Amino acid sequence: MQDFRVKKAKALSAELEVPGDKSISHRAVMMASLSNGDCEISGFLPSEDCLATVAAMRMLGVKIEVLEENDYGPIRLLVHGVSGKFTQPETAIDCGNSGTTMRLISGILAAQPFQTELVGDASLSKRPMGRIIEPLSLMGAKLTGTGERQTAPLTIVGSSSLQGIDYVLPVASAQVKSTILLAGINAKGKTVVHEPAVTRDHTERMFKYLLVKTLKEGDAISTWGGQTPESRDLFVPGDISSAAFWMVAAAATPGTVLRIKNVGLNPTRCGILKILVRMGAHINEVVDESGAESCGTIEIHGDKLKGTEIAGDEIPNVIDEIPVLAVAAALAEGRTIIKDAQELRVKESDRLSAVADGLRRMGVPVQEFEDGMEIEGGTVLKGAEVNSLGDHRIAMAFAIAGLFAEGETIVKDVECVNTSYPGFAAELKQVMEG
Ligand code: S3P
Repeated sequence: MQDFRVKKAKALSAELEVPGDKSISHRAVMMASLSNGDCEISGFLPSEDCLATVAAMRMLGVKIEVLEENDYGPIRLLVHGVSGKFTQPETAIDCGNSGTTMRLISGILAAQPFQTELVGDASLSKRPMGRIIEPLSLMGAKLTGTGERQTAPLTIVGSSSLQGIDYVLPVASAQVKSTILLAGINAKGKTVVHEPAVTRDHTERMFKYLLVKTLKEGDAISTWGGQTPESRDLFVPGDISSAAFWMVAAAATPGTVLRIKNVGLNPTRCGILKILVRMGAHINEVVDESGAESCGTIEIHGDKLKGTEIAGDEIPNVIDEIPVLAVAAALAEGRTIIKDAQELRVKESDRLSAVADGLRRMGVPVQEFEDGMEIEGGTVLKGAEVNSLGDHRIAMAFAIAGLFAEGETIVKDVECVNTSYPGFAAELKQVMEG
């Protein structure tokens, strides 16, 4: 198992780019596969999670060619869409660590007239799947979570006569919303999903871009059956959730100016910018709205940070950034309260407990609640040994904390960063060596 050995930062590079957005890369491969022709995807994220989606679509009979690779894997793909008609795989599809792969693909498989098995690693096999089993079953597919408590392995017996539903999401989850919408384009009539709080809208945007009719009215997102996405080339911007690690490091270093280029700036994902500004950082944005996704350059000017409250409808917008925002809170003067974030307990690890434990090891006073925590910031962090629990965002968040700590921080078990950010280790090395 690999570790990060982190020392104080020497210099944050003045300008950087981050790899492609994970959520958009998954959707690009799935929707291109569903489409009626050839789609070139550029800016694809060559991470283990997104490669699990590529492998899954290939197992379902989709031809996917690699047009270009970088040091970490494919970044430009040519997907030959099958107009929504897939072939039954011979073996179980392995979704690895990727919840997005397992949940969104279930929405596609629910409408296929065959049976499929989906398996995942130990972490994915503990994550809740009842939340997709219920709506897809209401639509007419047969899904069984053969693990304990409706968890993976999943068996899906699809149906070519799915019915549209009107469904109120019990949790604000973009994955569940997307699963239902993906099934909805192959279901009879109209499918409506009501979300309790706004979640990332990449699926809706990509549908629109590929001429799939969708409608947003208040909390309701609707689509209609009998639609095949129109093949078009797709561009994936850089992942703001990966940029978040460097944004926090820069924001907490007075005098630093860090420019991040070509990063996705979808308003349903930009909550971190508002929070860092509230904490005292200064941020300029140049946004290009011409594509399916907003994308642009952000410039972060670091300053002395102060504590804040992160709660309510803001949570889904920063759901993946909370571990690193907790690190920002530890570096800020005063108290930060994180509330309404119980979803973090069912991510790749229990992120509330992992963050609270890691911060305490580094000398930060933290009180953990069922749905969040209170962090007393402003004490000097001390280097410590922190376990990532195999969770990429925990590993990277504590690598950033280590850049500010006295002495060495050892983050254990960090291969997991490859699920979302191949190249993080190289960037970290550069920041430590100056
Ligand atoms: C994702 C949505 C979020 C996020 C995950 C990716 C997506 O999960 O945590 O990393 O691509 O839709 P939930 O929507 O389940 O909260």
